[in-house]
Amino acid sequence: MAARNVTRFVLPRFASVFQRFNATTVPLIMKKRALYRHEHCRLFSTTPKPLEKETVTVHFVMSDGSKQSTKTKVGENLLDIIIDNDIDIDGFGACEGTLACSTCHLIFTNEDYDRIKEKPTDEELDMLDLAYGLTDTSRLGCQVIVTKEMDGLEVRVPSGVADARDPS
Ligand code: FES
Repeated sequence: MAARNVTRFVLPRFASVFQRFNATTVPLIMKKRALYRHEHCRLFSTTPKPLEKETVTVHFVMSDGSKQSTKTKVGENLLDIIIDNDIDIDGFGACEGTLACSTCHLIFTNEDYDRIKEKPTDEELDMLDLAYGLTDTSRLGCQVIVTKEMDGLEVRVPSGVADARDPS
């Protein structure tokens, strides 16, 4: 009974509404709505703008004296920066940042060394003891995270690598 009423009385009343939606009108309606949203809704949007990550410049001084500079996002570690920018350092980062190899050894200037927020952990110091050409301002690249205060950082790449996992 109810279904028959829908067919007899309700549907005919909305027939003119349904007829307005066809292949030509639907795209036009969608376009109008999009235009309206573009013009009006943006004014009242409360969605915050996505935070843009700050970038800093890091310079790598290679063992042959050449320099490679790269812009990088704050929050990246030096191992990832070297890998992501295809900076070719033989044997670098062999354990992929798991603090097991010491091949990501890098040397900082005194000033830059002090600018590194995170001080080395005991595990990093143990691994650094096995690094090639250790200095007082050495760190493992996989453990150093770039902050905005480190903009212009200059890092020296040692002339050799020692893999702590290598039994020889
Ligand atoms: Fe192996 Fe950093 S990559 S200790």
